[in-house]
Amino acid sequence: MSLQKGKKTFQVVVLAAGQGTRMRLDMPKPLVPILGQPMISYILEGISRFSSQVSDMVQTAIVVGHQGEKVESFLDTREEKYQLAWQREQLGTGHAVQCFFRDIPDAWDTDYLIIACGDTPLLEGEDFLKMYQKVKKDDLEALCAVFKTETPYGFGRIIPQKRGFSIVEEKEASEEERKVKEVNSGFYFFKTEFLKKYLKKINSENKTGEFYLTDLFAFSDNAKTLVFPEKENFLGVNDLIQLEEAETILLRRKIKSLQLKGVRFIKPESTYVDWAVSIGEGSVIHPQVFLQGNVKIGKNCYLESGVVVKDSHIEDRTNIFSYSYLEEAQVGEDCHIGPMARVRPGSHFEKNVKVGNFVETKKTLLKEGAKVSHLSYVGDAEIGEETNLGCGFITCNYDGAKKHKTIIGRKTFVGSDCQMIAPIEIGDRCFIAAGSTITKNVEDGGFAIARSRQETKEGKASRFLP
Ligand code: UD1
Ligand code: MG
Repeated sequence: MSLQKGKKTFQVVVLAAGQGTRMRLDMPKPLVPILGQPMISYILEGISRFSSQVSDMVQTAIVVGHQGEKVESFLDTREEKYQLAWQREQLGTGHAVQCFFRDIPDAWDTDYLIIACGDTPLLEGEDFLKMYQKVKKDDLEALCAVFKTETPYGFGRIIPQKRGFSIVEEKEASEEERKVKEVNSGFYFFKTEFLKKYLKKINSENKTGEFYLTDLFAFSDNAKTLVFPEKENFLGVNDLIQLEEAETILLRRKIKSLQLKGVRFIKPESTYVDWAVSIGEGSVIHPQVFLQGNVKIGKNCYLESGVVVKDSHIEDRTNIFSYSYLEEAQVGEDCHIGPMARVRPGSHFEKNVKVGNFVETKKTLLKEGAKVSHLSYVGDAEIGEETNLGCGFITCNYDGAKKHKTIIGRKTFVGSDCQMIAPIEIGDRCFIAAGSTITKNVEDGGFAIARSRQETKEGKASRFLP
């Protein structure tokens, strides 16, 4: 399969068939979200980065099993296409690779096989690159990424042999072997021709009855280990504690990458930012900000403490003050939101809009320069340019069965404490007196007042005061 002259083919196999029992979640482990992305997408990202850095061919297969259909549907949603192999019964990592070759026999013609685990989301393109360079430079038939740890429990131990080394699994290790602190990370490069000879030789005659992929190394006298000084990248996610550890590390990486792009975080250790979030240069993010899902924030924005933004797009120079909550919203340039505003799905603000404290909006277009500064509900509405909605404004959009629209034109002034019974249309440059309940349309330039007249009785207050 070496298609172009001199080019080698590197076949990556991501093992992701395991049950993930220790997660105690009713979903396949590869799909458990970390910073809003399925766990497996991180290693796939690492592989594509690696692939873009080398001139050899890189192709990627995933071995699925437990709830594999769900993993398959997720993979179908990705731009890049992957090969899929099935391991219906999880008989061990060696068996998983055997299943891979059964389903994708063409892979026997590749030059190298790279094996990585779907539950190591911290592995980066750089790690693949280091292994790649070593395996080529030393012309190895097998290379195993290892690290040293004071807590080797659970890992396969690296045991040097006369030529090469072997890997002894925790359950098979003698007391002496258990003391070894150099351990197997579960990340390997093999020459495919080496696997062709030896993959069939591993067996399940051990304490667990599994086919250990790690048994392969004992067959080679041209295998090496590559010691990684930083073990962080090999953190395997097997339970919710390790999930939290991995998420914390990825969050730190995400925030660092934003800092390098000119985003200022004040106390980043208290900020949550999903992997897909983008933030422009010059923006300032205060403590305890929560940015979730597909969030895009422009340049020179300012987000104060406690702001929550989900799946929204915020344009340049917009300020969002404390404890505002935005969901599926689109906010233009130079807007002021909050503090304590609730911006619900379908809210679309053009530039220079002001939405103040205790204002709730939903399915509403606020055109350029519109203002709703205090204590209002604006739902299913369209508010024209530079129109001002006074304090306590309410769109009465729901009649108990259906939702109706409120449309207000440009440069209209709506006094405080007004309600509009939708469906209703108010024109441009209208004036609506404070305290009005408006039930009928008002033409352009109209003045409307809808409240009972005041009566004042001189000196009569004492009748009501204690
Ligand atoms: C494995 C290694 C161990 C290493 C450790 C590093 C073996 C035998 N042992 O142990 O030396 O120190 O990783 O984390 O390989 N999987 C399948 N099918 C199976 C079994 C597992 O696809 O039948 C997948 C899992 O989904 C997982 C990966 O292989 O992504 C590793 O399996 P796991 O059971 O976690 O192996 P460890 O016991 O951690
Ligand atoms: Mg593991």
